[in-house]
Amino acid sequence: MTDWIQRWKEGKIGWHRQQPNSKLIEFIDCLQLEKGDEVFVPLCGKSADMIYLLDRGYRVIGVELSTLAAEQFFDENKLEYSIRYSGKFSIYSADNIQIYCGDYFELDSEHLKSVVGVYDRASLVALPVELRVKYAAHLYSIISKDCRVLLLTLNYPQLQISGPPFAVNQEEVWSLYEKGFDCQQLQCFNDIENEPKFQRANVDFIEKATYCLRKN
Ligand SMILES: C[S@@+](CC[C@H](N)C(=O)[O-])C[C@H]1O[C@@H](n2cnc3c(N)ncnc32)[C@H](O)[C@@H]1O
Repeated sequence: MTDWIQRWKEGKIGWHRQQPNSKLIEFIDCLQLEKGDEVFVPLCGKSADMIYLLDRGYRVIGVELSTLAAEQFFDENKLEYSIRYSGKFSIYSADNIQIYCGDYFELDSEHLKSVVGVYDRASLVALPVELRVKYAAHLYSIISKDCRVLLLTLNYPQLQISGPPFAVNQEEVWSLYEKGFDCQQLQCFNDIENEPKFQRANVDFIEKATYCLRKN
């Protein structure tokens, strides 16, 4: 965890994108959201995807270890925010959005009781294998029945380059989620031509996959 805090302090946030993710835009309908619905963004960083969700008329609740990330999110998007403290979290809020600064594993179902959709980009794949098991089990335990999850993953030969992001294949997604969720893979394709870092490391392929899950 201290690694992530340090990365934010040093500005080593190579995963961050200025524009919303094209797969969120393409597949958001799988979340079956209505205006005003609340979407949970685990390990949210200062993701521009949260602005996209807000612009579509949804409410957002994020969780993020680094307070710097939350401050940068609100400052860079020119959103006035307030901070309150509750239990182990400092909660940064503006209209229709709250970022819980603290540890994802400390969130409980009470925090997420009005959430109907979850958006996971660079969150599951940010974690090493043992933590991914804990992350998926925790997600199951804190969201409500019928909640939908839009999950984006990457898969590549893990021996050719180290994570994060870590390689997560379909078999692993199934083993993490199949018990408690209906799982559907929406798309999977090799995108090596758009990944110069992976090309430089002579990685054979990088598959990008999108899944829609629904909690049973
Ligand atoms: C790879 S980044 C992805 C951020 C965001 N999802 C995006 O697409 O830009 C992972 C983020 O998770 C945060 N993080 C890691 N472990 C966490 C935890 N246990 N609880 C909350 N946030 C965590 C890190 O600080 C980092 O900002």
